[in-house]
Amino acid sequence: MVLIPNYYEDLTQLHVNACPQHNYFIPFSKKEEALNAKNRQESDRFIDLNGTWDFTYYPSVQQILADEIQQLEQMHTKKIPVPSTWQTQGYDQQIYTNIRYPIPFDPPYVPLVNPCALYTRKIEISEEQLANYDWHLFFEGVDSCHYVWVNQQLVGYSQVSHAISEFDLSDFLKAGENVLSVLVLKWCDGTYFEDQDKFRQSGIFRPVYLLGRAKQRVNHYLIHQDYDYQKKQAVVQIEIVDQSANVDFEYLLLDAQQNVISKGQAFDFKVTDICGWTDETPYLYYLLLRFGQEWICERIGFRKFELDIKYGLRVNDQVIKLHGVNQHDSWPDTGASVSMERHRQDLLLMKAHHINAIRTSHYPKSPEFYQLCDELGFYVLSEADIETHGVVTLFDVGGDDNFNLIANDERYEQVIVDRVRSSIVPFRNVTSIFMWSMGNESGFGKNFEKALSVAHELDPVRFRHYEGYFHAYQDHDNEDKYLSVYSRMYPTLEESERDYLVNPKKPYILCEYSHAMGNGPGDLAAYNELMEKYPAFIGGFIWEWCDHAVILGYDKQNKPQFGYGGDSGEEIHDGNFCMDGLVYPDRQVHVGLLEFKHLHRPIRAKREQNLLILENVRAFTTFTDENLAVKLIWQLNGQTISEDELAIPAIKPKSQVAFSLTIPKEKEGLLQLLVVTFHPQTQEIYAKEQLTFREAPVQLPSWLHQKEKQSQWQVTESPSEYQLVTGKFSITFNRLTGQMTQAIVENKQIIGKTRWLIWRAPTDNDRLVKEDWLAAGFAQLQSRVYETQLVHEKEEIVQIKVRSRLLPIFRQCVADLTSIWTFESNGRITIQTKVERNRQMPSFPRFGLELKIHPDTSEVRYLGNGPLENYQDKKLASYFADFQTTIEDLYEPYVKPQENGSHGNTYAVRVGHYQTIQAFASHPFSFNVSNYSVEQLTNTNHRHELIKEAQPYLIIDSHHAGVGSNSCGPELDEQYQINQDELLFEVTIQL
Ligand code: GAL
Ligand code: MG
Repeated sequence: MVLIPNYYEDLTQLHVNACPQHNYFIPFSKKEEALNAKNRQESDRFIDLNGTWDFTYYPSVQQILADEIQQLEQMHTKKIPVPSTWQTQGYDQQIYTNIRYPIPFDPPYVPLVNPCALYTRKIEISEEQLANYDWHLFFEGVDSCHYVWVNQQLVGYSQVSHAISEFDLSDFLKAGENVLSVLVLKWCDGTYFEDQDKFRQSGIFRPVYLLGRAKQRVNHYLIHQDYDYQKKQAVVQIEIVDQSANVDFEYLLLDAQQNVISKGQAFDFKVTDICGWTDETPYLYYLLLRFGQEWICERIGFRKFELDIKYGLRVNDQVIKLHGVNQHDSWPDTGASVSMERHRQDLLLMKAHHINAIRTSHYPKSPEFYQLCDELGFYVLSEADIETHGVVTLFDVGGDDNFNLIANDERYEQVIVDRVRSSIVPFRNVTSIFMWSMGNESGFGKNFEKALSVAHELDPVRFRHYEGYFHAYQDHDNEDKYLSVYSRMYPTLEESERDYLVNPKKPYILCEYSHAMGNGPGDLAAYNELMEKYPAFIGGFIWEWCDHAVILGYDKQNKPQFGYGGDSGEEIHDGNFCMDGLVYPDRQVHVGLLEFKHLHRPIRAKREQNLLILENVRAFTTFTDENLAVKLIWQLNGQTISEDELAIPAIKPKSQVAFSLTIPKEKEGLLQLLVVTFHPQTQEIYAKEQLTFREAPVQLPSWLHQKEKQSQWQVTESPSEYQLVTGKFSITFNRLTGQMTQAIVENKQIIGKTRWLIWRAPTDNDRLVKEDWLAAGFAQLQSRVYETQLVHEKEEIVQIKVRSRLLPIFRQCVADLTSIWTFESNGRITIQTKVERNRQMPSFPRFGLELKIHPDTSEVRYLGNGPLENYQDKKLASYFADFQTTIEDLYEPYVKPQENGSHGNTYAVRVGHYQTIQAFASHPFSFNVSNYSVEQLTNTNHRHELIKEAQPYLIIDSHHAGVGSNSCGPELDEQYQINQDELLFEVTIQL
């Protein structure tokens, strides 16, 4: 006797003795309970099986194949929470791989050493419960496959990790105590279809429950709606797809306040005076259905989605662009197992950042997640649990040419169709889903043509998406009639425009773009412009919502220390490629998300002459003083001079209102800016805008400390050094490096060594160009000085002229520099450098001067762009003002350390309080103050390994490259690269 039949390596046995798929619903015995239940647990038909189960993990299923279930059930010594993944509970090991399969490619076979776990718990069923109902067992997600026993009898088997499986336990349960056991295997033939870029985790990771079903019942029904938004009416039709017997039917439709709008026994009914559902107005009705002895409450919204190349996507007649994100289920402590509270938290955070759409990359969510999307208002692109990306890495036969290996192989048709079916059938009544996706990165071929036609048959109303079509073999006559959109990931803007937009054949979508890895993305605005330009371009989904992490330990404050691929000792892994979200693993917000928020601000401010125009870009929301407060903050030269509230009239959707403002007149000649902030009544800033009302050059701020002139400089000179002394200042200048070695004020060294910097700690988006930068030797430049000359014509001024070159160890010159250092006896040092770039060398990450500084405190004040880190192409969320902060707060804690915390458009910066180091110029520069050297940031793998250095670094950059999104997206736009022939650096340091 073997414990289990080998269904897990048999592609003809996907679901054994499982119930057919049907729409998701929860029956109740009583109408009021169905209507008012806060959650499904309140149903008397619902038995929650989440909680603590007995558990045994086996490193290999081979170990137990000869055993009997009864015996195994008695051997449990451990407990585990359900739902969870066992890797987050201390068993087995974490593996993060992106494209490569985590097991040898040998379908349908999987390694003999196949980890597994047995889960066991008791179920109490009363005599009465048993007599009244059929009890069905539901699993909402088990990775990768599961065998189920009740009272030691094998009930069945199922796979597809993110599908709902259901077993009718009627023939297995007895009154009183029953024993339920579930054997979960880590690998099965389905693994070849679940090669999504994520931590590969196993176990019962979504809820488990029993539903008591009436013996005479409806198993499967559809709610059709034909909504006429002009007439505000709809015809609703309830279609019974499957029933065990004819049962009587009644319905009630209630509005959001639970007033009954319609009721009766008809399967078709008309509703008038409808309040439509949209992302902005997620108005849901209650539809109570009674099928025989069962009451079901569905929350439905009325909406009509239309899609064409003329208007793009319309929702209830309004054009909508999808400002979406890809969302994986991932939290550092629980992995792929995500509670509804956390899902709600994520969705609320998305709402607060003006995200209106979600692609459920790359598998369906659990049913309650879709209900949250209905409730909170998101347009959902719901994806099937399919990815066979690993075929592109097969030896010799791999590569993009082979992307279609599985997609074209008949043996896999059933598997692919089954996965598409199980991603659609349960959710056909969901309001928020507007389009189905056939999966991700699995190539194209016959099997997807079939999948698309099945999807169309199952749901002719919603749209269909599949990016893999792009990989179709050109010599095959590919069928795309069921494809509603053309979809791409990470193309350049030019490619999108040329191939899909100038002459569109279908609406166009980016299912992934602006790879949000590390410091970035820097190209959100450019993509958005293109979306706005072409109606056929219906929007896109940023890759991706969150950084995926594992917890490696805890720091002294008990905060988790995050790790990524390779940190768990996995043999193959893809490093930190899983850290590419708009939020950190713990949902702290990345600056990239704030950029997104600004770009999609629902209300905008513009200046026209002396008028302030407020524009509402929402399609369905009217802004009034009830839901919006508007503040006007007047600034002169970056300083706030007044703050007022602006009373607003109603601003209708897609319309604008002009206000004439009394502009504070004082201090002509100073740059005058207006910051307009918008606040919803309840939370922090909703949108913010800075407008220029009077152009003027920026004046240096009054907080720059001036020092008195000292007497004449005393100069001592040797072949290797100049020594300059006057009063309280003493400066050493190294003639061999062409740099200062120290500056002393009143016996205290406040600046140590200076050096020119071209290197920046590579951002994740630099990961490709970094190879060129390294090859060109930018990380280890030496300075070769050809000439230094000291001029001391005026008593109080010394000038040192330096001609030098920056050279890597074994390569040719990177740049020729001509510098003039001017030392004034009031402690001002002005550095002017002309940089002639060697054109043979790649573009520069930056050009800057690094100063090792010794301030008395970590206080930083600056007049520039802030308060967030900002770069040429990532500065939407920042604005110009006078900011006070600290070195610690300037640091942006990317999990894998990299360039961070720079601030462009700066005119003056001061570090320290009494003992200050200041830098300023009449033209803007970028600065960075950090407790970590660029070398430390370059060479450290995790943020918790960074060691605060004894003295901070101040870097003044005359040029700093953009960040882009080249970790997966296109190369950094040329305009943000530093590839000019000649650069000029000029800044004054005040000791
Ligand atoms: C895409 C893929 C995603 C993710 C991303 C890179 O190719 O669809 O799953 O791997 O690249 O982060
Ligand atoms: Mg992939």
